[in-house]
Amino acid sequence: MYVYFKRDAGRFFTRKEFLDFVEKKTLKTIQKYNMLRYDDKIAVAVSGGKDSIALLYVLDKIERAFRTELVIIHVDEGIKGYSDLSPEIIANHAKKLGFKLYQTSFRELFGYSIDDVAELYLKGLVEWEPCSFCGEWRRWALNYLANKAGATVMATAHTLDDFAQTVIINIMRNSLPRLLRFSFSRERPIPGFVPRVYPFLELYEKETALYTHLRDLEHNDEPCPYAEYSMRWDLRMFLYEQEEKHPGLLFNILRFHQNLLDKAGERLIKLGKCIVCGYPTPQRLCRAHFLQRYVDSIVKNEP
Ligand code: FES
Repeated sequence: MYVYFKRDAGRFFTRKEFLDFVEKKTLKTIQKYNMLRYDDKIAVAVSGGKDSIALLYVLDKIERAFRTELVIIHVDEGIKGYSDLSPEIIANHAKKLGFKLYQTSFRELFGYSIDDVAELYLKGLVEWEPCSFCGEWRRWALNYLANKAGATVMATAHTLDDFAQTVIINIMRNSLPRLLRFSFSRERPIPGFVPRVYPFLELYEKETALYTHLRDLEHNDEPCPYAEYSMRWDLRMFLYEQEEKHPGLLFNILRFHQNLLDKAGERLIKLGKCIVCGYPTPQRLCRAHFLQRYVDSIVKNEP
């Protein structure tokens, strides 16, 4: 019985064929972009959602053949009814797979949870939607945990859909430097950052979700209550519809970004150090600490 029709390839898959396809595609992506080395210590960023749980199991399967070591890193965003469901799920997987788990939270690192920020946003006191804080703080926190774990590389579960959205968002925000810093190989490492790799780069989000479902892997299925406030939310639906009508469109966005990096990447990246944490940034403060101080200033002046 078929479980999946891959529109861009015009092919039906049985369960076994589909699971093999995801695992082989991930391995090929890792090899194509030289993402991992045989002696890496890999910090796998796990939120508890379907994509990151799929990544954990696919990497475990692939990396058993090598000398690599896998650890899990997890950041609690502090979103009631959403973030609080993940720690137990992740701890169960860590125990089952025998991986060490490193955890922290936004509250611990920045003094605020995303619920705190969302409350200010909904009162009209904060200019940016919760996702802007969540994205920046998560990036910082994952790098912090990967460093703490002594990882040589960090793997995240970003899919082709995530990449295409990020590229378009950076275009819509006229943010060329960000677009150029957003690289998916280890060949352009940024000193101070644990290199990030994206083994699901060439898989659709619906494919990683189906993998988790077919393997019956426990995961956090709750949607984030703040997702709908973000630009990414609308764009996600738009790109999804466009991909349905024009299969291969997301791959074209990926290739466009690759070409851009090849042509202009090296020249435009100029980074200094954040005065708070020393992490690389083009400004005085890294974006994570800029946002923390921004919230501090609002909380101080709140009536
Ligand atoms: Fe949850 Fe953005 S804050 S999806």
